[in-house]
Amino acid sequence: MIIAPSLLASDFTRLGKETERAVRSGAEWLHLDIMDGRFVPNISFGPAIIEAVRPHARKMFFDVHLMCSRPEILLEPFAKAGADLITVHVELHEQVTPLIWKIKSLGKKVGLAINPPTAITEVQPFLDQIDLLLVMTVNPGFGGQSFIHECLPKIQQANVWRREKKLKYHLEVDGGINHQTVAECARAGADTFVAGTALFRQHNMTAAVKKMRQIAQANDPSLADLNV
Ligand code: DX5
Ligand code: ZN
Repeated sequence: MIIAPSLLASDFTRLGKETERAVRSGAEWLHLDIMDGRFVPNISFGPAIIEAVRPHARKMFFDVHLMCSRPEILLEPFAKAGADLITVHVELHEQVTPLIWKIKSLGKKVGLAINPPTAITEVQPFLDQIDLLLVMTVNPGFGGQSFIHECLPKIQQANVWRREKKLKYHLEVDGGINHQTVAECARAGADTFVAGTALFRQHNMTAAVKKMRQIAQANDPSLADLNV
């Protein structure tokens, strides 16, 4: 299993130190939320920030989540800045196929994200082309929101498809993940857990990561075997 603290919830006045705190916490990935003020009603940060924090986490896997209307203009800058995996949203419809190919051509892993109101069937045509499926468990745009329980059946469905089709994509959840909701997501089949508030806003992030891992594994023992 993978735990991915979201830098969005970190102290922006000390991004280098915050990134090092995530490395030391034992989390496998760092989740980077990119918001353009158009796809979502908020703006976060761009490639320059990723480039700036990269030397503070040389070996960590950078999971870049693009909540952007025109990701095609951003793929190369984020690839160069240090992204390992780039996720785009299925709500971009006909843009999705060319975006997947462009990400692959840059030598990066591909993620596909789906918002809470969007039907899970929308991702079905892409499942054999992706490395990660991100089921959003809040409406994207802001950290610190409450988990939307109605998203759980979508995680279950994505897990069933993964098994039936013998695919290997990571099943990631993002939004309102804490020590309670991680249990429900693990039972539904998720294996990759993004958490901002529940990890970066804790005094002892290492303990928070350890506890999140224990709870996930207690709810789905197969998570003990999974890794990057
Ligand atoms: C929401 C972002 C999330 C966010 C999660 O738009 O995609 O990654 O940082 O934050 P928490 O864990 O605080 O809900
Ligand atoms: Zn995210």
